[in-house]
Amino acid sequence: AADQRLALLVSTLVADLARLAEEHRLGRDELRRVIGFLSEVGEACSDQRQEWVLLADALGLTSTVERLVTRRPAPATPNTLIGPFYRKGAPERADGESICLDGAGEPLLFTAEVVDLDEAPLPGALVEVWHANADGLYENQAPDAQPEYNLRGAYRSGPDGTVRIRTIRPGGYSIPDDGPVGHLLAQLGMSPERPAHLHFRVSAPGYQTLTTHLFDKSDPAIGSDPLFAVHPALVAEMSPHPEGGLAASFRFVLARQMPA
Ligand code: DHB
Ligand code: FE
Repeated sequence: AADQRLALLVSTLVADLARLAEEHRLGRDELRRVIGFLSEVGEACSDQRQEWVLLADALGLTSTVERLVTRRPAPATPNTLIGPFYRKGAPERADGESICLDGAGEPLLFTAEVVDLDEAPLPGALVEVWHANADGLYENQAPDAQPEYNLRGAYRSGPDGTVRIRTIRPGGYSIPDDGPVGHLLAQLGMSPERPAHLHFRVSAPGYQTLTTHLFDKSDPAIGSDPLFAVHPALVAEMSPHPEGGLAASFRFVLARQMPA
């Protein structure tokens, strides 16, 4: 039997492409350039490099799909793309323990509070965190340059639903700009710089797992994320801590799992 869903999506795409070609009088050379670009994206792919995923991310498609598939009641923290650098099985850390294993960077004490939609604290939630170092590099991007699991950890929320994460301020991250997607952004005059951010995955039994990231409010790239993931509710402010370094906090609001 024909796949009706596929037929609908392909016919819509074909109609939209035809409209685009007519409206902008697409030329033969331009069509050839489109095909050349898509070929380059395919050729750039390897085990280490997901250029097609990067293209979907940079077109904003991943962020749009995340928004559509994880529609949550109003105060719930928005879900965002997980990105390519998540690792399962990061070490569990005690409350207040540091995930910075090389001592490099500006200290940051991050207090995370996990609550439900009624603002009741959720004890025993698993808060996984991962982020880039001050140079904008994730531990698994340059395995020889950082200790394994540097700037990654998993914490359990206490009776009041909070965890204290000791880490360092992340640096901004440039999406790979040496491949076809990077070249496309450059031709469009778009910056490949993602605003500095911390990734989180927050899970608790009976609740929808939240995958999100929080952005550094003071980063000049905050308004120009090439992956379109910045949301007004996902901006965190880092302020000087009285005992030195920086402090930031965030309240993660989880929604209940849908009944099956
Ligand atoms: C992507 C996501 C990230 O969080 C990041 O730091 C870099 C790239 C991505 O989805 O391509
Ligand atoms: Fe990231």
